Amino acid sequence: MNALDVEGLTKRFGGFTALDQASFHVPAGSITGLVGPNGAGKSTAFAVIAGFLRPDGGRVRLFGEEVTGTPPWVLHRRGLVRTFQIPRLFPRLSVLENLMAAAPPQPGERLPAPWFARRRIAEEERALRRAACAVLERLDLLGHAEAPAAQLSGGQKKLVELGRALMSGARVVLLDEPAAGVNRTLLRHIAATIQALNRQDGITFLLIEHDLELVDELCPLVHCLAEGRVIASGSMAEIRRHPAVVDAYLGMAVTA
Ligand SMILES: Nc1ncnc2c1ncn2[C@@H]1O[C@H](COP(=O)(O)OP(=O)(O)OP(=O)(O)O)[C@@H](O)[C@H]1O
Ligand SMILES: [Mg+2]
Repeated sequence: MNALDVEGLTKRFGGFTALDQASFHVPAGSITGLVGPNGAGKSTAFAVIAGFLRPDGGRVRLFGEEVTGTPPWVLHRRGLVRTFQIPRLFPRLSVLENLMAAAPPQPGERLPAPWFARRRIAEEERALRRAACAVLERLDLLGHAEAPAAQLSGGQKKLVELGRALMSGARVVLLDEPAAGVNRTLLRHIAATIQALNRQDGITFLLIEHDLELVDELCPLVHCLAEGRVIASGSMAEIRRHPAVVDAYLGMAVTA
């Protein structure tokens, strides 16, 4: 069973084709890599898969069910969550509040609140706080729970984004460059956390990353995107040897 099947995904911005019939799959329970040079269409693929952008062609299936064009909040409820290349947090809210705000709506929030509902709401809030603390503990961020999110380092913000995905009960998490600009120590921590969440909680990850060593370490299956198309799939070792991949990366080095 695949967590995701992406078939012939096409996305145009005006006359420019960012995704050109891209096809790939993500086995359920895997950590799968999505690599490729700058501008290959990786983040665009995430935006389309997670329902932030409508595709111009192709389809997406989530655990076998077609979800093409489904809005992000519906996919979120169905367990598919993306993180952003540049973390999108509430900068002035604390780290804890950022996590609490990511949980699905509580029953108490939907009811008109008569006096007898107050206690229930308070109980729900305590439960939410406990759940958020448990997630922060797993991410080793409990010491920063009360800090405004804006004060965190770039790498810590990426971890908070992952924490927000976990609070929503996600089963499939799309991670956009979790290691970009992160120091070595935090990188090890992020890698270990992704692995633990995969092995212990069975969360499926699709990982965009330019750190190919990290992709090699985490991902048995890797897809390489270039100019909106998947040009190779396999292990990182196979991908590295693939002539089309070598060409695509050399092209980037020359134009960079
Ligand atoms: N909203 C948009 N409007 C117009 N063009 C866009 C838009 N979003 C992305 N693009 C273009 O689509 C192409 C793919 O962009 P995308 O962000 O998906 O690349 P990427 O593979 O994630 O690159 P990077 O590794 O640099 O993050 C780029 O040429 C980009 O400029
Ligand atoms: Mg990107």
